[in-house]
Amino acid sequence: MGNVHVIDHPLIQHKLTLMRRADTGAKDFRELLEEIATLMCYEVTRDLPMEEIEIETPICKCKSRVITGKKLGIVPILRAGLGMVDGFVNLIPTCKVGHIGLYRDPETHEPVEYYCKLPPDVEEREIIVVDPMLATGGSSTDAITMLKQHGCKNIKLVCLVGVNEGIQRVQQAHPDVDIYIAAIDEYLNEHKYIVPGLGDAGDRIFGTK
Ligand code: PRP
Ligand code: URA
Repeated sequence: MGNVHVIDHPLIQHKLTLMRRADTGAKDFRELLEEIATLMCYEVTRDLPMEEIEIETPICKCKSRVITGKKLGIVPILRAGLGMVDGFVNLIPTCKVGHIGLYRDPETHEPVEYYCKLPPDVEEREIIVVDPMLATGGSSTDAITMLKQHGCKNIKLVCLVGVNEGIQRVQQAHPDVDIYIAAIDEYLNEHKYIVPGLGDAGDRIFGTK
């Protein structure tokens, strides 16, 4: 079973509290999400493999460490995942970005696919799926399934807020995937929104509704 990493760093928790507040506007919401994504990227990339190379400083030759191994790909689940992309790209400027478009059917709350555009060499990359919300887990589960259908083997999932129900759905479908999350909330309401959560992330980022 994949590990669940709860990233409870004070900076992340403080910024998440600001995001949860109903009186936080779209500009601040977007900025906070990007800042949290940057902080989460630092933790998510902690286990990247390294190698020593020889370099020359202004003083002498020496050995120093660089990241090695597979290249990275960031895959946001549209729309809300877009709000986390820059936080990752700021720290990993050479990564490629793929996009998976899913929306939740308002009646069934199950994800419906409407877009998929991935880097051509996606199966050779270590993939980090980003989406702030992990509610029923349907969207994340389906996005990871789509990536595996494209040959991806090495996948991590990074979310901001989730509930145990959603985490368990992803873990059951994809026991090989580690989940990184900033907060595990209490439950889903009758509309399958996270309680207390932060509302509809896509609407709050893009000012719709
Ligand atoms: C939201 C969110 C996740 C999904 C989570 O997207 O960004 O993708 O719901 O819910 P789930 O775990 O129950 O699948 P939404 O469908 O509202 O689309 P949007 O991002 O375009 O607003
Ligand atoms: N999607 C959201 O944006 N918020 C929730 O609480 C659940 C799903």
